[in-house]
Amino acid sequence: MSETIHHPLDDAATDPFEVAARAARDIARLTGVEHHDIALTLGSGWGKAADLIGETTATIAATEVTGFSKPALAGHVGSLRSILTPKGTRVLVIGARTHYYEGHGVRRVVHSVRTAAATGARTMVLTNGAGGIKSTWSPGQPVLISDHINLTGDSPLEGATFIDLTDLYSTRLRDLARRVDPSLDEGVYCQFRGPQYETPAEVRMAKTIGGHIVGMSTALEAIAARQAGMEVLGFSLITNMAAGIQTTPLSHQEVIEAGQQAEPVISALLARVIGEL
Ligand code: HPA
Repeated sequence: MSETIHHPLDDAATDPFEVAARAARDIARLTGVEHHDIALTLGSGWGKAADLIGETTATIAATEVTGFSKPALAGHVGSLRSILTPKGTRVLVIGARTHYYEGHGVRRVVHSVRTAAATGARTMVLTNGAGGIKSTWSPGQPVLISDHINLTGDSPLEGATFIDLTDLYSTRLRDLARRVDPSLDEGVYCQFRGPQYETPAEVRMAKTIGGHIVGMSTALEAIAARQAGMEVLGFSLITNMAAGIQTTPLSHQEVIEAGQQAEPVISALLARVIGEL
């Protein structure tokens, strides 16, 4: 069904931060929680983490919140949860990622991040399922994102907005994650536009320019998080070896299954890391 409803972010004259502020007020009203400390976006394979972080005090449909689009994929849960950790930290769990490849523009892609910042969150944890390039990795393995290469050719920043991206994926938070799991390796995430998976030549290019992980999310969101002054922590679940590195064809089904298999282990890891933040 084609979308006929006007979307508040589609009007160039609208201030996306004003829409995010409205969304944050919706979240406060619907959850009864005025302020969140940490925001967490759950990508493929990471969904169970929410249950392990603490007590869910409210679950709301993303469609009830200003500016949130319906998720394009069945595997992507269109809900927002407010969780109270044993330490008393309020975590906003975003199960409703809008991908760049959906073609609704970068404002919608980063709206959840800007909304999280508007709820008060100072830490943004971004997770995804992605292809691995490093030969020492295997499917099912979680890795930290140490930096990114944005290959979308787009940016969430509008106009002459110059933002420093040094240490975008916080060294402090990566060190903290490695204290929880010293075996965590890390790598540079390359965001491609998608939705097609990369060609083997594109994967070779990504490797040549310093990439270790290929995926279709996260980099644009991390830039928006930094613009909002948040500290960013990024995790990729390696769901498959990138095209050409694995010799068998890539399939969405394989990605989903790798996520499901790894889910209990990586969700427990993520919950422990969140507990330390
Ligand atoms: N490439 C891009 N995105 C992905 C991949 C991949 O190999 N695996 C899961 N998401």
